[in-house]
Amino acid sequence: MPREGLRTLAPELLRQRIDAVTGTLPGAKAVDRHLSDLRGCFADEAAYEAALEGGDELVYSVTTGLEDESEGGLSYGLGVVQPGRVGREYYLTKGHYHAWREAAEVYIGVSGAGGLVLENDEGAEQFVPLGAGELVYVPGATAHRTVNTGDVPFSYVGIYPGQAGHDYASIAEDNFRLVVLAGPDGPVVMNRSDLLDPSPTATIRKAHA
Ligand code: F6R
Ligand code: MN
Repeated sequence: MPREGLRTLAPELLRQRIDAVTGTLPGAKAVDRHLSDLRGCFADEAAYEAALEGGDELVYSVTTGLEDESEGGLSYGLGVVQPGRVGREYYLTKGHYHAWREAAEVYIGVSGAGGLVLENDEGAEQFVPLGAGELVYVPGATAHRTVNTGDVPFSYVGIYPGQAGHDYASIAEDNFRLVVLAGPDGPVVMNRSDLLDPSPTATIRKAHA
């Protein structure tokens, strides 16, 4: 693919405004994900079916700004996760590995509050909070999902190699090992296995230090 250059790049892609209020990149088209697109993502299946019966609500939107798939090029998109929960679990994105496993990504918080659920296939996992004006680095070979832990839309920009590609299937098979839930004093992070098989020794961590 030919490199996007100063000569070829449309001015609106060279310099793009992020509308933090509407959660859009003006001129670019959003892809919407509703509850029905997220079957299998939430831990509480009964709560998921009940939520779906109540209406197929919008959970998140992604607007891709520029996709520069030339060697060395970058792509970026604006994600907006709506506030809401299925049972106690906060609204989330599907999450993915990059098809080109080594491809890393930078997330920059624009408005609202949430975080990234990260894991790799070497047994490491972590929830990393992300707020407006903050940045999270997602290393290569790391599956990532965003979660809105607040009560207003959570928006962020993700910047990644244009050749990264998206692999949803590898993480969808077993789902992420961590879940982010509403607790009595704010968000808490738990292991999915402890949630499905609760025991007094289950590890529950505060999501925000
Ligand atoms: C791109 C990226 C984000 C997500 C967005 C929606 O590589 O990580 O722009 O695409 O947060 O999440 P998914 O793609 O998992 O539906
Ligand atoms: Mn990504």
